[in-house]
Amino acid sequence: MQPFLPVPTADGSHTFYSKTFGEQFHSRDGAYDEARRTYAAATHLTTLATEQNAITLLDICYGLGYNTAAALEAIWAANPACQVTVIGLEFEPQVPKAAIAQHLTQAWPDSVQQVLQRLANTGQVQGRCQGQLLIGDARQQIQTLVSQGWQGDRIFLDPFSPPAAPNSGPWSFGVSGPVPQARGNFGHLLLCGGGAGGFAVSRVTPGDDPCRGP
Ligand SMILES: C[S@@+](CC[C@H](N)C(=O)[O-])C[C@H]1O[C@@H](n2cnc3c(N)ncnc32)[C@H](O)[C@@H]1O
Repeated sequence: MQPFLPVPTADGSHTFYSKTFGEQFHSRDGAYDEARRTYAAATHLTTLATEQNAITLLDICYGLGYNTAAALEAIWAANPACQVTVIGLEFEPQVPKAAIAQHLTQAWPDSVQQVLQRLANTGQVQGRCQGQLLIGDARQQIQTLVSQGWQGDRIFLDPFSPPAAPNSGPWSFGVSGPVPQARGNFGHLLLCGGGAGGFAVSRVTPGDDPCRGP
């Protein structure tokens, strides 16, 4: 039996339900759509890709990889030559593997699917997208990245909601910044690099520029 069962969402894409957290991984309104709107579009990756030929992403709580997928789709639609570096952080390796095995990523562009497959099955990818999927507790992995001086263009943080996972706030992930403003709407929380402690935290609603902060 598959440990993770696909749940259909309104845009035709599928997500998983977590028995552990009692919550779906994505909105019922549309899993792909959520990744596209809430992460790729809200962080203006299309614009960034027209300005830069190299973009670095950190995808905390990688899950099925949809936020990375939406980012790659947006970047390469705007600038097919853009070199993308991505680090995904995920606690449960079976989640991305199950998404691939159950063909849940097959509606992303082929080039994006290849990246997701390599990350899920080998933990790394090379080529126009180079990167790693690091398995473990992101709270510790972030501290390692900070100590290594990691810097990037966009950081996505997509934990389960505070009621489902009370210890999943950005403060739990070792992220500094104006955290109180970020409470209460984690589905719309993104982070951008460059804060004094390594990360600046922004809550993003459609139309906001997350890099300007709250
Ligand atoms: C809401 S889902 C994220 C969905 C994902 N962004 C996607 O597009 O599929 C939350 C994910 O965070 C992972 N997670 C929860 N706590 C974590 C932690 N402390 N470190 C790393 N991953 C964690 C869960 O295993 C789950 O895959």
